[in-house]
Order: sequence, then structure tokens, then C-alpha cells
Amino acid sequence: MLMKADTIHQAGSQYPERHVLLEQEGAVRKSLVLGCGGYLPERIVTNDELATRIDTSDAWIRKRTGIRQRHIAAEGELTSDLAVAACRPALERAGIDAEEIDLIVLATSTPDNTFPATATKVQAQLGIKRAIAFDVQAVCSGFIYALSVADNMIRLGQAQTALVVGAEVFSRILDWEDRGTCVLFGDGAGALVLRGGMSDAGSSGRGVLSTHLFTDGSHYDSLYVDGGPSTTGKSGYLRMAGQEVYRHAVHNMAEAIEIAIEANGLSLSDIDLLVPHQANIRIIESISRRLGVDNEKVVITVGSQANTSAATIPLALTNAQNNDRIQPGHLVALSALGGGFAWGSSLIRW
Ligand code: UT7
Repeated sequence: MLMKADTIHQAGSQYPERHVLLEQEGAVRKSLVLGCGGYLPERIVTNDELATRIDTSDAWIRKRTGIRQRHIAAEGELTSDLAVAACRPALERAGIDAEEIDLIVLATSTPDNTFPATATKVQAQLGIKRAIAFDVQAVCSGFIYALSVADNMIRLGQAQTALVVGAEVFSRILDWEDRGTCVLFGDGAGALVLRGGMSDAGSSGRGVLSTHLFTDGSHYDSLYVDGGPSTTGKSGYLRMAGQEVYRHAVHNMAEAIEIAIEANGLSLSDIDLLVPHQANIRIIESISRRLGVDNEKVVITVGSQANTSAATIPLALTNAQNNDRIQPGHLVALSALGGGFAWGSSLIRW
């Protein structure tokens, strides 16, 4: 029996009207995770290789960040190429055809072009005819912002099956002479497939339980790119006040998870897997210590992949999925902070 009547929604003018059940006795419409996938460019650049070009060392980079190596896109390999290469295994894992996708939300700060959205290129390359496709820009927290947008559109019935993508080629916006930043980042992409479906109401039902987003633009100058269409007309290079970002990352990412846990009536000990943004091993360890989450419940990829900005979380989820670290019913906690500052968290019952 229906609690809330079938709602008629039109997901974009190209779609016929359809009926979407939003709520039933004891159950609500949620975004269920069908699977995820990732892609890392072939070329690996080690710390030792960087040390031949700039005044740095493997020992310094490992000790201060935990990073051992990063993947760097080949010449001519674009953000859209990385994104498509991540979406294919995600779709395969989800067991669905690309044409079933009716929403693509792609998080990136390194789009192929200033416009149109890189998501539109991904749509075309995957051969998806009828979908809403657009980009979201929230730098390192971009994937959680994209997830939030997709989740809300699915829960309201505006979309049914979504690709949520984080894809970056940060190597193209790095000042390769600035040792304080160029050693920290890498290129990569990850994608998550979501589908709307009925799920037990409350935090034990599977699906995206919540997303919490926060922004404080007074920190605009702490992490930014010194260029852009309306300033210099050129794309510019990444600039960062490292210690300022570090302090806020530890505090805000941990707090965002605490807020999400409380909002869902859960406790921190319920977390089965913590998937934080991968910028620095010391940030990740401080967060897990503050939250009291054991090391074996924390996914860490920063050593082999470095910071791929919006791609770190879907890449880490893919790593956990492919290593059988995530099981159906697990409570997965995500958290990230990046330029803006923009930050946020999400809880997913896998
Ligand atoms: O995704 C979100 C954005 N990013 C982050 O979350 C990153 C947050 N910040 C950090 O992870 C850290 O602040 C860094 C890893 C960037 C820097 O670590 P730190 O412990 O804060 O080092 P520092 O900036 O205080 O630099 C310490 C020293 C300096 O030398 P002096 O002035 O003490 O002589 C730097 O010049 O280390 C020097 N240094 C380096 N030395 C060798 C900075 N970068 C390097 C390097 N190799 N690559």
C-alpha cells in the first residue's frame, strides 16, 4: 500500500513522464550503489624521479605525506579519457548497459575545456543518448558534492540510474618547479553507479544515507589556481598554503563525519569502512585517531596514487571493492576537504 502516492516526474524534456514511488510503508526511495570502477594512467612517476628534477627527496616526501609515487596522464590523454576509462569498469561491475544511465554528474577542476561540461563528452563517448550530464566543481571535495547532487535527483525521482564521476589531470595545473605542491598530486578517475530503489527507511536500509556539505569562501586564497577565464584568460597553476589547508582538513573532515553519524542516529563504532580524501597520510591518521576508527577500517591509497583531487574517493572505493573490503550492508563513511574551502561527508549503507 502506498503511503505517498506515485509521483509523476519528468526528468528533462526528452523523457516521457514516469511514475516514481517515493515512499511506502517502512520503506523510502534511496540511491542504491550498484558498483564502482577506476582508472589510473599507465605512467608512474616515483619520488626518486622527481628528485632528479627538483630539490626534493624520496625520504622527505614519504615522511611528510606518505606518498611513494603518482600516475601521470600521457600527452593528449584528457580528463574525459580518464573518466570514460573509469566508467566502463564501473558499468561492468554494476551489470548494466551504458544506455540505462540517465544522469552523469562529473566532479572535476581540470575539465577538458572551459566549456562545455566534460560530462557531455563522457556521455557521447559512452554512447549514452538520453541523459542529463553536467560537471560539478568543488575541487578535492567534488566527488561528495557530485554524489549529493545525484543522490538528491534520484531520491526526488528526477533520475533513475546515475554515473557519479571524479576525474582529474592535476599534472596540467601544477607548477613543476614548486616543490611544495608538485610532489603531492597525481592523475586519475573513479566512478560510482547509483540506482533509485525502495529501501528500508532508517540507517539500516541500504543506499546513500546522507550527504553533508559545507563551504567557507573566506579561505578562497589558501588553495587556488592563479589563473582562469575571467582573471588571466589562461588556466594557471595551483597555489597552496599547505599548513593552513592541513589544519582545516583534519578538523573539518573529522567533524563532518561526526555530524553525519549523529544525524543518522548512529555511533562512530558503527563505521565499517572509512574512506577519507587522500591528500596526506598524516591527515588521514589524525582523522581516524580522532574518530577512534581502527586502522584496518581505513582505506589508504595515497602512497601509490598521491592526491588525485576529486578522484581520490571513488578510486579508494574501487580499491576497497576490488579487494573485497566492502560487503553488502557495510556502513561506509566518506569525507573530503578542498579549495574554497569546500568540504563534506557522506554515509552509505553499501
Ligand atoms: O587535497 C587538499 C589539499 N591538500 C592538502 O590537504 C595538503 C595539506 N598540507 C600538507 O599536506 C602539508 O602541509 C605539506 C605536505 C604540503 C607540507 O608539509 P609540512 O610539514 O607542512 O611542511 P612545510 O610546508 O612546513 O615545509 C617544511 C620544510 C620547508 O623548509 P624550511 O623552510 O623548513 O627550510 C619547506 O621548504 O620542508 C620544505 N619542503 C620540502 N623539502 C623537500 C617543502 N616541500 C618540500 C619537498 N621536498 N617537496
